[in-house]
Amino acid sequence: MKKIYFGTNLKMYKNIQQTVDYLKTLVTETVKLDRKEYELFVIPSYTALSSAAESISQKQVILGAQNMAWEEEGQFTGEISPKMLEEIGIKLVMIGHSERRHIFHETDDEENKKVICGIKNEFVVLLCIGETDKDKMDGVSNEVLRSQLIRGLKGVKKEDARKIWIAYEPVWAIGVNGKPATEEYANSKHKVIRECLLEIFGKEGEDVPILYGGSVNPQNANSLIIQPYIDGLFVGRSAWNAKKFAQLIFSSIDKLEDFHSVNDESR
Ligand code: 13P
Repeated sequence: MKKIYFGTNLKMYKNIQQTVDYLKTLVTETVKLDRKEYELFVIPSYTALSSAAESISQKQVILGAQNMAWEEEGQFTGEISPKMLEEIGIKLVMIGHSERRHIFHETDDEENKKVICGIKNEFVVLLCIGETDKDKMDGVSNEVLRSQLIRGLKGVKKEDARKIWIAYEPVWAIGVNGKPATEEYANSKHKVIRECLLEIFGKEGEDVPILYGGSVNPQNANSLIIQPYIDGLFVGRSAWNAKKFAQLIFSSIDKLEDFHSVNDESR
């Protein structure tokens, strides 16, 4: 079975102490989680990253940064270099989150430079993509997703595909005003993404995990996780209470195991 991913982006919500408390609770609540089969990751704010890395083992929870510069050093006031992240033990970086693209106007070409810099520095790069409501209404969602992938991953070699994770987060589904995608819709877009990854990387594109994010909650997590093209869940609000996040994870896993046992029997 393919590895399944569960992760959260803490956005600009938890301070240092809250992040450390959150992580410790999450580690305690997920001791039973088999890390060979399930990957668990948390992406805190920059100021909390160093304390976060000291407070838990990344064998339990991988820590990631919410953004990164595309250069290792230089005249880039306000930016954080991959070397600085590496110095505090961070080796996962999220690039191109919807809020970076739409509030801070980051472009595909900038995301691409960050992806390339992340790969060069041996990071795992979580590239986020997703169509807007207007793209969906205009019937160009697939084209937009393909373009974000082709531009965002330009210049990434096949042999580096193993360092890429993709999060599909439709812009209209994210945050307090978001409406979650139905599982059928999400699955169909994950299929488009998988096909595009296969075009870009050849067979190496098969193993790039594709996570769904955007108003994942305890009501829809179970039906999303059993979709054949969905490899994991990237959760915002519903994950910010560690106990509730652990419940969502274990409930999804139960559902997935039931689903596989029924499907394997009927084969
Ligand atoms: P919500 O789950 O709160 O919609 O946020 C998703 C997200 O942006 C994860 O990066």
